[in-house]
Amino acid sequence: MRVPVIAGNWKMNKNIVESVSLVKELRDFVRGIEGVDIVVCPPFTSLWVVKEIINGTNIHLGAQNMFWETKGAFTGETSPPMLKDVGCEYVILGHSERRQYFKETSEEVARKTEVALSVNLMPIVCVGENLEEKESGKTESIIEQEIKALFPKIDSTLAARIIIAYEPIWAIGTGRSSSSQDANLIIKFIRELFSSKYGSKIAERIRILYGGSVDTKNIDEFMNESDIDGALVGGASLNTLSFSQIVKAAKIL
Ligand code: PGA
Repeated sequence: MRVPVIAGNWKMNKNIVESVSLVKELRDFVRGIEGVDIVVCPPFTSLWVVKEIINGTNIHLGAQNMFWETKGAFTGETSPPMLKDVGCEYVILGHSERRQYFKETSEEVARKTEVALSVNLMPIVCVGENLEEKESGKTESIIEQEIKALFPKIDSTLAARIIIAYEPIWAIGTGRSSSSQDANLIIKFIRELFSSKYGSKIAERIRILYGGSVDTKNIDEFMNESDIDGALVGGASLNTLSFSQIVKAAKIL
């Protein structure tokens, strides 16, 4: 059985004071909840204070990006060991905003994924099509390219630890989510891609999330689908009441 993941992507929001108050409230709202892995991904500047508050609780820490090198002359970048040092267990990689605004390629995302796995950070790798690609029937080929780019870099012994987030770009921050049935079909397709490369045993262990305008109203539908193992939540993760309701809807116990 795959334990669901609900990850909150705060994006470039919340200063230190705001992060502290958000995560303190969240900690109280989700206290004692089991059967779901709860992850918050604050901006880099808040990782440390957030970690101090969630230490010993059921909330885990994630970052929103990282570089693949360990250290050196890479101005402005953050290394995988630095994320471990501050207490991260997860890292979002290849979010569509990074692919779009910072021109991250699937090959770079694959390189980061390899390094994340090697230092025992759980990568949440984002894939998804834009509106034009959707409308021209290219969804599956885009997803296939993005997923297959990971394969040369992922050893079969570590593949089961990867988390994928299927996030149709047209659904992110628009209030217009995918239908749960459509999302489930794509997520099944992603699982099949992993199965053809690593075998069904490994593919059945990989957690694949949906992301894109997830809220308290649609989370039940997504969680009722056979292959959707949780959600990557943007906007609704900035509201503790909404986020904690999403967490509660996802728990399996
Ligand atoms: P959203 O963002 O929930 O605000 O649509 C999701 C994401 O970008 O991960």
